[in-house]
Amino acid sequence: MSYQVPRGTKDILPVETEKWQSIERLIQETCSLYQYKEIRTPMFEHTELFLRSVGDTTDIVQKEMYTFTDRGDRSLTLRPEGTAAVVRAYVEHKMFGMPDQPVKLYYMGPMFRYERQQAGRYRQFSQFGVEAIGSADPAIDAEVISLAMDICKKAGLTSLKLVINSLGDAESRASHKESLVEHFKPSIGEFCQDCQNRLEKNPLRILDCKVDRNHPLMNTAPALSDYLNEESKQYFDKVKEYLTVMGLKFEVDVNLVRGLDYYTHTAFEIMSTAEGFGAITTLCGGGRYNGLVENIGGPTAPGIGFGMGVDRILLAQEAEGVPLPKLSTLNVYVVALGEEAKKKAVEVVRNFRLNGISADLDYLDRKMKAQMKSADRLSAENVLIIGEEELNEGCAVLKNMTDGTQQKVLFDEILSFLKRN
Ligand code: HAM
Repeated sequence: MSYQVPRGTKDILPVETEKWQSIERLIQETCSLYQYKEIRTPMFEHTELFLRSVGDTTDIVQKEMYTFTDRGDRSLTLRPEGTAAVVRAYVEHKMFGMPDQPVKLYYMGPMFRYERQQAGRYRQFSQFGVEAIGSADPAIDAEVISLAMDICKKAGLTSLKLVINSLGDAESRASHKESLVEHFKPSIGEFCQDCQNRLEKNPLRILDCKVDRNHPLMNTAPALSDYLNEESKQYFDKVKEYLTVMGLKFEVDVNLVRGLDYYTHTAFEIMSTAEGFGAITTLCGGGRYNGLVENIGGPTAPGIGFGMGVDRILLAQEAEGVPLPKLSTLNVYVVALGEEAKKKAVEVVRNFRLNGISADLDYLDRKMKAQMKSADRLSAENVLIIGEEELNEGCAVLKNMTDGTQQKVLFDEILSFLKRN
């Protein structure tokens, strides 16, 4: 029997983790510049939370959740996204009462969706996201969008497209919903069962349907943009103004709807336009959710945020040929010849590490030539050779691998020598 990772998941091996660590560092640094603080929530939540927040007519809830009953007969779900949990934590810990408002949070970690595996789409993927809760200022919409763009750019990506839209406030959405029902109702029998179920509950989702996407009524459906009330339009104009002030280029796409139900007003996505990136190009998606906190039992607290697929950022880097981050360096590889020398090597390596010098040595009792080869493969900056003769003299041979020079150095002086050079 041979074992393999479950479909849609992957191992990230050491050659890859360096890239991940570099993106993770970049995210932490950038969030700190913007004053977003990290929050960590559990990997699973009560299923009900996602039904209520993401929406029970969405594909995520209907088709993609990993839901299970635990031994206490509770229905739990592996988180398919981060917003619901962050908002739950915001309410549970009464963060609305904290002195600094809005509350600006970020998170990073695995999310789970039962999707068809393809390049850039996994069943376990890593998402970085931010949520700013407690402000309905369009300037913070622009801040959140600029944070997302900064991360993409700092990751070395240049082929990017920012697309924005307004989904309007509750009133605008209600009148749009009414006209959608009117539009589809007479012919709803021609649509799939999912669409029929969505008609009264959430007709906007009909427009996302993959089965009926070629039905003639899809193209003639009333557009949300025609139903935005004055307030929603003004809000959207302000967001665009702030983005322009920040020097961020964007396109408005009135067809941009998001796959989750909690959005109001601003919605946005960042796509990679890199050649050869593949069919799935969305790196980041987000928007405003003014009713969500209230919807899950909190006070009225408007919010905005986004989720960014870290796997996809790495794929986009590959497609754009972004150079790899500098790999971690090895300052000294210690070559030991003979048993006594090995004992000294163990001591010296320990001392190097305690003093902030990265060091390694041979654990396979290999000959000098093989040990030198290892040092080469590991790109060691220096090799310290300890032989019996040197040992008797209280010194070792230090070889600089960059310029090939070598010299004898007393054991007592190696540390200061390395720190000096
Ligand atoms: P989302 O659009 O469902 O939004 O996901 C955000 C990002 O997560 C996507 O743009 C994509 O990069 C990544 N992603 C989603 N599914 C997969 C997958 N199966 N494989 C790889 N990457 C994937 C949300 O999740 C919202 N919570 C975003 C948000 C936060 N809105 C407001 N605040």
